Amino acid sequence: MKMEMITNVTEYEAIAKEKLPKMVYDYYASGAEDQWTLKENRNAFSRILFRPRILVDVSKIDLTATVLGFKISMPIMIAPTAMQKMAHPEGELATARAASAAGTIMTLSSWATSSVEEVASTGPDIRFFQLYVFKDRNVVAQLVRRAERAGFKAIALTVDTPILGRREADIKNRFTLPPNLVLKNFEGLDLGKLDKTSDSGLASYVAGQIDRSLNWKDIKWLQSITSLPILVKGVLTAEDTRLAIQAGAAGIIVSNHGARQLDYVPATIMALEEVVKAAQGKIPVFLDGGIRRGTDVFKALALGAAGVFIGRPVVFSLAADGETGVRKVLQMLRDEFELTMALSGCRSLKEITRDHVVTEWDHPR
Ligand code: FNR
Repeated sequence: MKMEMITNVTEYEAIAKEKLPKMVYDYYASGAEDQWTLKENRNAFSRILFRPRILVDVSKIDLTATVLGFKISMPIMIAPTAMQKMAHPEGELATARAASAAGTIMTLSSWATSSVEEVASTGPDIRFFQLYVFKDRNVVAQLVRRAERAGFKAIALTVDTPILGRREADIKNRFTLPPNLVLKNFEGLDLGKLDKTSDSGLASYVAGQIDRSLNWKDIKWLQSITSLPILVKGVLTAEDTRLAIQAGAAGIIVSNHGARQLDYVPATIMALEEVVKAAQGKIPVFLDGGIRRGTDVFKALALGAAGVFIGRPVVFSLAADGETGVRKVLQMLRDEFELTMALSGCRSLKEITRDHVVTEWDHPR
């Protein structure tokens, strides 16, 4: 596949696979254990079909979205993915520039190979910071303060990773961070490097450094050290949606971590409606996992999502073509989403309703 011939988001994966060392490609691509949820994240979208409305004047279509009060160009944002300099020398900086050019939000991973300050120096755009809570809470407090000072507008607290999921390719490859790179937010601390181990270096890192005692009370603790809104990333049930609201979350991200944590959890698009119903419109609900087409974005919004995030398409396009690749991914998804809106008879996000889709789990009308 030649780069100029690319016509959809998934085509970047084959190019990335060819270009990247096997250890890096496998880390980006894989899911946990049997990878059932990994396939399901994609397959589930095919259980949702459209009920398009015709003869609506679609000569003007408005894709703009408002997320936590910030106006962005479209409801498609960038999920946090770790260690982007393994994909391309410009790593997270290229991703940040591509997000800015598209007028949307990038979420920077705690485990980025560029620091919060470096990413902030690419320009004053709206960005979120993804937080992993380390055992050393002073390190966490300092990092949150740095993100706040660097102008990040929200914390996406990842709650599905007390222990790293079992990603067998990483174990076989003895995954570790290449020696020329560091987890830049922790440079100088002994948390900046992954050790070489006999299995996954990242799994050992998480086991050693991440606080598995993290629980709902810690949301209060996080609120005591920052005034930034907190998005709880990794909710899959109505029960936890209610607890997140009680704890004062500003929003929820329905996520199964790109199928890299607990295998055999449902596809996020299958879990979305349960969460949306439990949220009762009190806080916005976002989704990530398996979004590869504009039609996927529309389906998520029709089922109640306020916006979506994409993970792997960013690292694969970054590997294939740097900032240009990520820009193209965002543009292709935008164009496809706009087309889906036009062909469904929707002129703005609020015109996308539950009646625009029919799912396998709907009762016959
Ligand atoms: C991730 N994800 C992730 N999540 C997080 O909270 N912090 C992180 O550092 C990472 N790192 C990471 C690396 C890679 C290579 C992948 C593929 C994923 C999960 C990510 O934010 C998101 O939930 C999924 O990637 C969404 O699914 P898709 O779009 O990859 O199918």
